[in-house]
Amino acid sequence: MPYPSYHKIADDDMHALYAYFMHGVTPVSYKPEETALSFPFSQRWGMMFWNLVFDAPSNSPKSAVGLADIQRGEYLVEGLGHCGSCHTPRGLGMQETAYDSSSSAYLSGGELNGWSVPSLRGKGTSGAGIVGWSQQDIVDYLGKGRNRVAAVGGEMTSVVEHSMSYMTDSDLNAIAAYLKSLQPAAAAVAPKPASAAEQTIAKLTAGKDLSLGERLYIDNCGACHFVTGKGGPMVFPELDGASIALSKSPTGLIHTILAGAATPSTHAHRRF
Ligand code: HEC
Ligand code: HEC
Repeated sequence: MPYPSYHKIADDDMHALYAYFMHGVTPVSYKPEETALSFPFSQRWGMMFWNLVFDAPSNSPKSAVGLADIQRGEYLVEGLGHCGSCHTPRGLGMQETAYDSSSSAYLSGGELNGWSVPSLRGKGTSGAGIVGWSQQDIVDYLGKGRNRVAAVGGEMTSVVEHSMSYMTDSDLNAIAAYLKSLQPAAAAVAPKPASAAEQTIAKLTAGKDLSLGERLYIDNCGACHFVTGKGGPMVFPELDGASIALSKSPTGLIHTILAGAATPSTHAHRRF
């Protein structure tokens, strides 16, 4: 329950949520299961100590109406979107190491069940991950689950399927504008050596003296992602420069190869 992020929710939005839960949703009879946590984690008062040390400052505004794009994006990402709960690295107490953009650790990438979660610090025009994405690329990814170069995978699939694909275009644009304003880590903007890509493409195209990995790629992946690794816009994700391929941990990539990737069908981009 990402309540440190929810401290940011404006008072009038919180009232709207209350009204929705109390009057807009039909009640059901439901008894929550007893917690299976062992002592001392089963003790709720223990959270007092965690809150003392790690909780984010409580600073909700009265209203978030009429904010300019980047500020509205900041409000949505840091509060209701709680994007940092997966995209910000966690510390020793499992706390997020930053809760807003005043720290360069904020949204700098994390790890979730062994699957690495990419950085969302996107300022720039060319570089790894979303640094090389345009504002529209981010809007498409969040609203449709796919864009010119990528398709959602892992835990991000349910974020898009159940939340982001229901957002308005103007909120998605505000989020994208905010992410494009965050300065990325130096490594993410380092230019890729062009010659390495050219050599790989030339070797795969010639098809001689291939290593086992290269041969397996051509036989099993090349038909869709191509020898260039560029794929096809909105259909086959680009593997060259993709966060999942560049990540230090191979778990996401291995899982995708073994179990497949299933981009959700969204109302902005239907799939049957
Ligand atoms: C439940 C955890 C979780 C939450 C919450 C979450 N994400 Fe993600 N996100 C992921 C994972 C995991 C990936 C990597 C997906 C992959 O490997 O294909 C990802 C990928 C992304 C990417 C693609 C980046 C790239 O380089 O390929 C964007 C953009 C993104 N998330 C934006 C957001 C935004 C904006 C929010 C908040 C509204 C958010 N995410 C909340 C887990 C999460
Ligand atoms: C028949 C076409 C096809 C083949 C063959 C194929 N892929 Fe894909 N791949 C896709 C599609 C389409 C997606 C997007 C997910 C979706 O829409 O279901 C995808 C997604 C991915 C992703 C996730 C990208 C991300 O950003 O999360 C990776 C990684 C990937 N493929 C790697 C591979 C590898 C490695 C192989 C060979 C072992 C391979 N693919 C073979 C079509 C293909």
